[in-house]
Amino acid sequence: MASNNSIVSFILDGKIVNIDFNNNNKYTPITTVLEYLRSLPKHKGVKEGCAEGDCGACTVAIAQINNYNQLTYKAFNSCMIFLPQLHGKQLITVENLGTSNVLHPVQKAMVTNDASQCGFCTSGVVMSLFALYKNINNPNKKEIDDALAGNLCRCTGYRPIIDAATQACAYDGIDKFTKNEAEIISLLKSINKFSTIAIENDTQKYYIPFTLYEALKLKEKHEDAIILNGGTDVALRVTKKHEFIAEIIDISEINELKQIKVNDNSIEIGAGISLEEIKITFENNFPQLSSLLSVFGSKQIRNKGTLGGNIGSASPIGDTIPILMAYDASVILVSTKNERKIPLRDFITAYHKTEMEKNELIKSVDIPKIDKDTIIKSYKISKRKTLDISTVSAGFRLNLDENLIIKDIKLFYGGMAATTKRAEKTESFLIGKKWERKTVEQAMPIIFEDFNPLSDARSSDEGRKIMARNLLLKFYLDTN
Ligand SMILES: Cc1cc2nc3c(=O)[nH]c(=O)nc-3n(C[C@H](O)[C@H](O)[C@H](O)COP(=O)(O)OP(=O)(O)OC[C@H]3O[C@@H](n4cnc5c(N)ncnc54)[C@H](O)[C@@H]3O)c2cc1C
Ligand code: FES
Ligand code: FES
Repeated sequence: MASNNSIVSFILDGKIVNIDFNNNNKYTPITTVLEYLRSLPKHKGVKEGCAEGDCGACTVAIAQINNYNQLTYKAFNSCMIFLPQLHGKQLITVENLGTSNVLHPVQKAMVTNDASQCGFCTSGVVMSLFALYKNINNPNKKEIDDALAGNLCRCTGYRPIIDAATQACAYDGIDKFTKNEAEIISLLKSINKFSTIAIENDTQKYYIPFTLYEALKLKEKHEDAIILNGGTDVALRVTKKHEFIAEIIDISEINELKQIKVNDNSIEIGAGISLEEIKITFENNFPQLSSLLSVFGSKQIRNKGTLGGNIGSASPIGDTIPILMAYDASVILVSTKNERKIPLRDFITAYHKTEMEKNELIKSVDIPKIDKDTIIKSYKISKRKTLDISTVSAGFRLNLDENLIIKDIKLFYGGMAATTKRAEKTESFLIGKKWERKTVEQAMPIIFEDFNPLSDARSSDEGRKIMARNLLLKFYLDTN
């Protein structure tokens, strides 16, 4: 007999759905929410286009209780979420919005504005606009573009969709979901969020701990288990690489990893905070991090992806890494036995390798507050402005004296080597010289000596070097 804590519970169609994975041969812990919905008779509006977070055809909304005891509604790619990740949340699909007689304001605006042709993308578009409708009244063009950046429409064109968004969101966000909110909150509160969920069958284990200590105990016991935070990297291993992941510890329900701590000289950002929240929260404190995040993936990806996951992946094209290095950030690692702080510059040791021990987790990222004399800039070059990974990225840090002499300069580049790498020869050349165009032009060719990048589908090695070189000039122009 299965114990209670193997049951994952969430709300769909206004009712609690319980899935006992230990007594179930239909779904596994790595069944995606998209696969689950497509298996149901009444939720086939959701579509699979790419199964890798790139097209938005699978977009659904998920509602969760926030700190103010209200529901927040966000758009997610259902192809990037494993079924147990729904625990304690309300799943909302296009079928839940309206009926053909009574359309939701978003659906009505899509019809009125002729914003659909073949319809393949439409349910995903509607769900992204539903999340916008619930969050922003009278959104401006930038906010609408941002909400739609993760939804690909190949035939209608975006003008009518944007018109539909403008028309629908001129309302105040009130709809049938507002009326049912109290009831949904009370149902969500009845779901167990205290005792660890442990799904253990013959071939697979999936754990959802609710405290950091429980997660660390599990990590100690299952040292090869994959840590899943937002899952936007881990899910691809299943949906694209068709890997079978035997053990997962899902840390996305741990509140201790979602804290922001303001210290005297630094701000500590929890490893489990979503990138979208970081983008909004740190617009003033760390504007270059926030502006970089505005071109990171799409809203759906940033709603799920975390800072811990971006650093934990230790990818040479992880977008937050160069800029966090420029901010001189440190990673705080924790195990059941101790806590330690490592400069991010030393944390990543090789391609996808870090200093983290098997029993450790990334707890937070500590970013020193920046004095007014330090200039920091971030750059990302990609084939598309949004929803694309970097070809070359950069995080730069500069200190000048009153005569514009370079006291210190750090040039961190992504996409130029197996890990984020500094242009050390160029830095040495620049230190002590005047920050003027002539000096920068003399330094630019030295970038070619600093790097020996790869050629791939995104760029040739030569192209990457030229981009890296030209970013230095852009940095100079932006600081003038
Ligand atoms: C469509 C799409 C677009 C994307 N666009 C971008 C982009 O523009 N720029 C970019 O840099 N990346 C991008 N990514 C990659 C991904 O979204 C990011 O790397 C994201 O930050 C990962 O966070 P996560 O929480 O989802 O990580 P997860 O998938 O949960 O984890 C990633 C890795 O980090 C480890 N990990 C996570 N949290 C911890 C922790 N607290 N302690 C220890 N280890 C941990 C995991 O074990 C795993 O190895 C994109 C991905 C997709 C699918
Ligand atoms: S199917 Fe394309 S984003 Fe999910
Ligand atoms: S209506 Fe055909 S892809 Fe958008």
